[in-house]
Amino acid sequence: RLLRDLVGLEIELSRQLNLRKVIIIPGDSEIDRAVRRELGRATAGVLGQYLTDQMVVAVSGGSTMAKVAEAINFSFPATTVVPARGGLGEVVEYQANTIAAVMAGKLGGRYRMLHIPDGVNEETLEAILDGDTNLRAVAEMIKHADILVHGIGEAAEMAERRGVPPETFAKIERCGAVGEALGQYCALPGKIVHVTSSIGLRLDDLAGIGTVIAVAGGSAKAKAILAVVGAGGQDVLVTDEAAAKAIQLLI
Ligand code: F6P
Repeated sequence: RLLRDLVGLEIELSRQLNLRKVIIIPGDSEIDRAVRRELGRATAGVLGQYLTDQMVVAVSGGSTMAKVAEAINFSFPATTVVPARGGLGEVVEYQANTIAAVMAGKLGGRYRMLHIPDGVNEETLEAILDGDTNLRAVAEMIKHADILVHGIGEAAEMAERRGVPPETFAKIERCGAVGEALGQYCALPGKIVHVTSSIGLRLDDLAGIGTVIAVAGGSAKAKAILAVVGAGGQDVLVTDEAAAKAIQLLI
C-alpha cells in the first residue's frame, strides 16, 4: 500500500516539479541511517540505468553523494568520473574529488581531478587555466559531462559548513536563500541569489549536460529541493518520503 502511494506521489511530483522522473524511497533519511543508505543505493541504481559506454559522469560532493559512490555495486570500466566543482572547504571524504575517485574505483573506470578550490576570483581562475592545459581539459570535460549526479543542501547549513565570510553569509540570508547546489544559493521559487566562483559546473550550465540527477532527502531539505529544482536544469530527483511529503505541503 505504502509503495503504491509513493508511486502515485512520484508521478504527481514529477508533474508538479516539471521533472522527467522522481524516485521516492520510503522513510526519512534525516533520522534513519538505513534510509540514508537506501537513498544512496537508489541513486546509484538510477545512474546505472543512464550509463552507456565511454560516458563522462560529473559528481558533486556532500555526505549524500558519498553514500551514492559507496553504494555502486556494478562495474562500467569505460566510464570517466570527474568532480563537478573544485574543493569547497569541506572534509576530504565529502569533497567532489574524493567522491569521483571512489565512484570511479567502484565502476572500475577512470577519474580526473580538479585541483583548484572554489571561491577563487575569476581573474585568478583564468590565469591558472591559461597556465595549465591539463586543468583546462578537465574543465571542458566537466562542462560537457554526459551525466551529472549532485546533492542539494540547506543554504545556511552549507554556508556554515564551508565557513563563508560573514558578509557572504549575511547576503545569503538577506536574499532569502534556502537551498544550495553546485556552490549556488537559491531562494524560492527558484532564483539564484549567490554564486561561488568556480571553473566547475554552475546551475546555468546544466542545459549542456546530458542527464542531471539530483539527490536529497529529509523533510528539512524540502525548501532547499524546491528552490534548486525551481532554478531549472534538473531531470531526475531521487528523494525520500519525508522530503516528498514536505515538498507537497509547500507547493
Ligand atoms: O558541497 C557539495 C554539496 O553537493 C552541496 O552542493 C550540497 O548542498 C551538499 O553537498 C549536500 O550535502 P549533504 O548531502 O551532506 O547534505
